[in-house]
Amino acid sequence: MRFLQLKTKITDMSDQFEKVQLLIKEVEAAQPETAEALEAFRIQYLGSKGLVKSAMEGMRVIPAEQKKEFGQVVNLLKQVAEDKYNQLKEHFEAQKEAASVGAMDLSRPAESLPLGARHPVSITLNRIIRIFEKLGFVVADGPEVEHDWYNFTAMNTPEDHPARDMQDTFYILDAPGMLLRTHTSNVQARVMTSRKPPIRIIAPGRVFRNETISARSHAQFHQIEGLYIDEGVSFADMRQAMYYFAQEMFGKTEIRLRPSFFPFTEPSAEMDVWLGTETEEARRLTKGTGWLEILGCGMVDPQVLENCGIDSTRYSGYAFGMGIERQALRLFNIPDIRMLFENDVRFLSQFTAVQ
Ligand code: PHE
Repeated sequence: MRFLQLKTKITDMSDQFEKVQLLIKEVEAAQPETAEALEAFRIQYLGSKGLVKSAMEGMRVIPAEQKKEFGQVVNLLKQVAEDKYNQLKEHFEAQKEAASVGAMDLSRPAESLPLGARHPVSITLNRIIRIFEKLGFVVADGPEVEHDWYNFTAMNTPEDHPARDMQDTFYILDAPGMLLRTHTSNVQARVMTSRKPPIRIIAPGRVFRNETISARSHAQFHQIEGLYIDEGVSFADMRQAMYYFAQEMFGKTEIRLRPSFFPFTEPSAEMDVWLGTETEEARRLTKGTGWLEILGCGMVDPQVLENCGIDSTRYSGYAFGMGIERQALRLFNIPDIRMLFENDVRFLSQFTAVQ
């Protein structure tokens, strides 16, 4: 009886060893062919109720002196199953990735990204800035919502001066004395009150006037202002700078200065550029005269220098100001000024190629 019992135990024990050896062979031979079959393999051998786990439970019937050896065999089983699983898992993942690359057409052109374009007004402004930069002018800036003093009073246009009627604007009701600037000349006053001569600036920007909107005029538009103050600056210096600008902007041409009036310059002039009367476009733009009016200019009135704290007995200077939109219309042959402010991308995207 005892013998039999013992025999059973021995058989049990060798069964356990044999079972594990068999499992190792089984695992080595297993060949899961898909990711799904591999998952079934994992559950079967390595799962929480899997065969490796139950082989470990065989430890209970193993006599103490053999436990170590049995443990090693079970560990081997576990190791073989895990290695197989990890290796095949990597294999199937690589296969999946390769399949998705195969489905991708690498020669397909990229989605086109719409490229922005510069606004024709910016293009025109930049051209003018570049010309004056060559003469040593640097860009200055000033506010669009401005105090009356900088826009008018400092510029020699006190309240009740008739010139204010010519530049009616929009006033900020709850901020007395504040308005939308009517010209970029406010930057003259801004710069002269904050810097010492020599001053040589150009100031591009948006200006506003209380005007009826039509194909030729708008209540908002752009100007560029120029100011040069130093000792001994003369009218001849101004004429030469204006002449240089006209050549650079319009190609070989002539200019003419006509006497004019601005409260902040004395003497004052309007400058015309000769476009000629040969082409129909030139005749249309110049109303048949051949001369295109492009800017106002003059010697800075000594009173303006004094208003801004600059000694007018020592310094003199010239200033000029011009509108940008009309030049943009001419440059790009645009028929209506309103097109510049409608922000219609079908219109604006035509300028992508232009710098
Ligand atoms: N500010 C004037 C205008 O808007 C232009 C100008 C500027 C004239 C500077 C002379 C000097 O009409």
